Amino acid sequence: MSKIAILGHGVVGSGTAEVFLKNKESIIKKTGQSVDIKYILDLRDVSEFGECEYADKFTKDFEVILNDDEVTVVAELIGGITPAYDYVKALLLSGKSIVTSNKELVAKKGAELFKIAKDKNVSFFFEASVGGGIPIIRTLNQCLAADKINEVAGILNGTTNFILTKMSRDNMGFEEALRLAQDNGYAERDPSDDINGTDACRKICILASMVFGKRVNPDKVFTEGITSLTKEDIAFCESNGGTVKLIARAIKDNDKVSVSVCPAFVDKNSQLAGVNDVYNAILVRGEATGDVVFYGKGAGKYPTASAVVNDIVNALNNSGNTLSWGDEEQEITPPEFSKTCGNIRFFDNI
Ligand code: HSE
Repeated sequence: MSKIAILGHGVVGSGTAEVFLKNKESIIKKTGQSVDIKYILDLRDVSEFGECEYADKFTKDFEVILNDDEVTVVAELIGGITPAYDYVKALLLSGKSIVTSNKELVAKKGAELFKIAKDKNVSFFFEASVGGGIPIIRTLNQCLAADKINEVAGILNGTTNFILTKMSRDNMGFEEALRLAQDNGYAERDPSDDINGTDACRKICILASMVFGKRVNPDKVFTEGITSLTKEDIAFCESNGGTVKLIARAIKDNDKVSVSVCPAFVDKNSQLAGVNDVYNAILVRGEATGDVVFYGKGAGKYPTASAVVNDIVNALNNSGNTLSWGDEEQEITPPEFSKTCGNIRFFDNI
């Protein structure tokens, strides 16, 4: 009998509990194990969660989870570095597998945590950290592993894509569109991480670290958000046969790697131009495969929870199988734009 614990009962945490309990029978079949949620850690009082069919599982005491040998897999869905980093490190050291949606944790502390997971022969999975419900991490690691990938680029933040879509299609103001994204559960706890490009930066660092094999430091990445964009910028792009998207891009040219996040002109013929609302799309350029594009809902309760639950199933099935990159820091060169017009950057070949 395996027991799992969930840290955090916010948008993704509550979604994970719901998706897991709804699909429990099929999870038991897929893992061949009798498995259940034993604990949900949240510091808020359980009464704040309204009518909750699993109210008996709540605890405020992390040590109870850490010291319970029955718990083999823990889903860290708190977000941020503190206290998530200390919790995850302690859990890995105690021999428990981790699945997480926490892109800040993976981008900043991933290399160190992968090493602990390997040493302890447990799993550390993070599919939900990039692209919400799009299965991009495992695909890059397994299905495209034989190809040499020279570029990953795309729309990696659902909140900003939702805002840009509302501004351009519905003539909605920035603040109103942001509020709507928050109401839909797309935005980060601190939405400035979305609108200033930080969230997309962490995600492209995770993808770049995976495909290039060395740790890409988010602090070294050229990052611009959408806060300075105006309706005029959007109209300018549209009158020139395209649209504006927040593009995250990592590109390798021989030994030079450049990584950037910025509002960019996207030609209407590009596969990224029709990606709207909360949808994300990730373009992977492989030497043998050519262009492959992954598309799906990049944020929101259930798409992200689905990726977390999938990782839980994988952790139950493959304990010790950890995706990773090395601790050596990747040197980054400044990005090259073919043109800059006001707030808009132009890339070749997007
Ligand atoms: N705030 C993030 C987004 C959530 O809007 O994409 C998913 O990582």
